[in-house]
Amino acid sequence: HRTLRVALLGAGSVGAQVARLLLEHADELEERSGARLELAGIAVRNIDAPRDVELPRELFTTDAHELIVGSDIVIELMGGIEPARTYILEALQSGADVVTGNKALIATHGAEIFDAADQVGASVSYEAAVAGAIPIIRPLKDSLAGDIVTRIFGIVNGTTNYILDRMDKEGADFDAVLADAQALGYAEADPTADVEGHDAAQKAAILASLAFHTDVPLEKVHCEGITKIDAAAIENAKKAGYVIKLLATCERLPGGDDISVRVYPALINRDHPLASVHGGNNAVYVEAEAAGPLMFYGAGAGGVQTASAILGDVVSAARRHIAGGGGVGESARGVHPIAEIGRI
Ligand code: HSE
Repeated sequence: HRTLRVALLGAGSVGAQVARLLLEHADELEERSGARLELAGIAVRNIDAPRDVELPRELFTTDAHELIVGSDIVIELMGGIEPARTYILEALQSGADVVTGNKALIATHGAEIFDAADQVGASVSYEAAVAGAIPIIRPLKDSLAGDIVTRIFGIVNGTTNYILDRMDKEGADFDAVLADAQALGYAEADPTADVEGHDAAQKAAILASLAFHTDVPLEKVHCEGITKIDAAAIENAKKAGYVIKLLATCERLPGGDDISVRVYPALINRDHPLASVHGGNNAVYVEAEAAGPLMFYGAGAGGVQTASAILGDVVSAARRHIAGGGGVGESARGVHPIAEIGRI
């Protein structure tokens, strides 16, 4: 088998698990991908920062640029826009395939990154960017490519689902449970992105872009978080037979010319399947014309769970890499505009 050099950028809660799994499952990954996946190095800001997993010290470097040059697959798990964007563009230009979990970057600079990949015939995959371990990007991009998606309702933020669930079950205090969500590795480095709904809005923009085959800019996503939800609101909802969940909705509006993408705390009937999504889990409910309703459910956050989605993309990238690149006309973005959908 050929050896492919894999560069990892970032060793946070997801990155550290990705490194561990690449090392521990090297033989299985080789069998499945047809290539030896050699972890060439892990670029981090601070080599001595505490990590969730013990990893060989010699793998660490602070020089991401040097690591990227000569790599076949670059896994970006640094988060944030810069320097992640620059490194990804650099990786693509050097002919590497890119795997990322960076929803903020895909939601705001997706078009630029996919165009850069298309130009050089490289791939960018981002299954981990939405709903952690749950396969949802590829189902929308590939499995449902022949259908017409009409609506998506998603619980796509694990932190807020965990917080609201504990407030609902035990009347827990918002700040105390936020600290627990951080300790469990669900929350973003700055949890404001979770509780204000920005993280869910980024994911909603990505889902809507794929589902409706158009670029949905983040500014067009209505976004309201859960910071105003208090014990009384939860109690009142409960009395009326509802549970409060932070919901992301993507819909084709009647007439089919327009779409609406929104994130807001919603009252969900306790009988609805989305009401039984507990803890850090996520669920994405998709309605398509021919398929009817589909429900994708599972771990929406957490280091090792999200690492599963990254590894899946790495195996696909490796297979693609040794097969000599993508098919003719394959678009990295998976958005093949079939018709103008109109203004959002
Ligand atoms: N902070 C995110 C969440 C992590 O809570 O869902 C997964 O994207």
